[in-house]
Amino acid sequence: MTTTDSENICRRLVGRTAVITGAASGIGLATARRLASEGARVVCGDIDENAGNAAAEEVGGTFVRVDVTDPEQVEALFKTAFDTYGSVDIAFNNAGISPPDDDSILTTGLEAWKRVQDVNLTSVYLCCKAALPYMRRQRRGSIINTASFVAILGAATSQISYTASKGGVLAMSRELGVQFAREGIRVNALCPGPVNTPLLQELFAKDPERAARRLVHIPVGRFADATEIAAAVAFLASDDSSFVNATDFLVDGGISGAYVTPV
Ligand SMILES: NC(=O)c1ccc[n+]([C@@H]2O[C@H](COP(=O)([O-])OP(=O)(O)OC[C@H]3O[C@@H](n4cnc5c(N)ncnc54)[C@H](O)[C@@H]3O)[C@@H](O)[C@H]2O)c1
Repeated sequence: MTTTDSENICRRLVGRTAVITGAASGIGLATARRLASEGARVVCGDIDENAGNAAAEEVGGTFVRVDVTDPEQVEALFKTAFDTYGSVDIAFNNAGISPPDDDSILTTGLEAWKRVQDVNLTSVYLCCKAALPYMRRQRRGSIINTASFVAILGAATSQISYTASKGGVLAMSRELGVQFAREGIRVNALCPGPVNTPLLQELFAKDPERAARRLVHIPVGRFADATEIAAAVAFLASDDSSFVNATDFLVDGGISGAYVTPV
C-alpha cells in the first residue's frame, strides 16, 4: 500500500457533518478527534461548557451547549449543525451518565431511575427525532446510538436503570434502522465493553478490587481505550459500513462471547 492509499483510507468523512453528544469527554471526545481527522466537520454538543468548547476548538469544529434531555436544546443542536455546515450526515448520540445512586433495584429510588432514563434513553429518542428530518431530506445519514454491552449481558453488580436504558437504546436503534433503511439512513447501536474513561474510572477503575472483579471476564484482559471505540464509530459513520444497519455493534474485547477467559 502506498502512502497515498493509506491517507485516503483515513479520510473517509470529507464533506460530512457530524453531530456528537457528550463530546467533551471520554468516548465522545475521542470520537470528535477521530471523525475530524477523517475529514468530518464536527459539532460538539455537551452540557459542560468549558470542556466542550475546548474539544470543539481542538478539532476545528463548533461547540453547542446542550442538555440532551431538553427537546428544544436538542433541536437547536442539529439546526446549528445544518445552518453552519449545510448538512447533517452523522449523528453520534452518545451522552450518558452512570451515577452512584443507580444501583440494585432494591435500593434505587424512582428519582434516580428517572434521571438515568432521561439522560441515557429519552435523549437518544430526542436526538434521533431531531436528526432524522435532515437525513430524510438528504436521503443519506448514519445514526450511531451509544448503548453498552450491559444491554445484552446481565451483571450481578447491578445498575438497574442504566442497564434498562441501554436495552432501550438498542431496541430503539434496531427499529429505526429498519424503518428508515430505504431512505438511505442507517441506524446502529454501538455496544462498547468497559472503556477507560472518567465515567468508568469514577465507577471502579481506580479501585483495584472492583476493577479486578470485572477484568477477569474480559478475554483481552484490559479495559478498552476510548480511541478503540472511536475507530468503530468512524467505521459506522463511513460508507465502509454501507451494509451494516440495525445492529447491536459490539466492541467489547470478547466479553459477550466468553465463558472461561485465559489466565
Ligand atoms: N465508559 C464505559 O465503560 C462505557 C461502556 C459502555 C457504554 N458507555 C457509554 O458511552 C457513553 C459515553 O460515556 P463515557 O465513558 O465517554 O462518559 P464520560 O463521562 O467520559 O462522558 C460523558 C459526557 O456526556 C456529557 N453529558 C452528561 N450528561 C449530559 C447531558 N444531560 N447533556 C449533554 N451532555 C451530557 C458529560 O458532560 C460528558 O462530557 C455513555 O452513553 C455511556 O453510557 C460507556
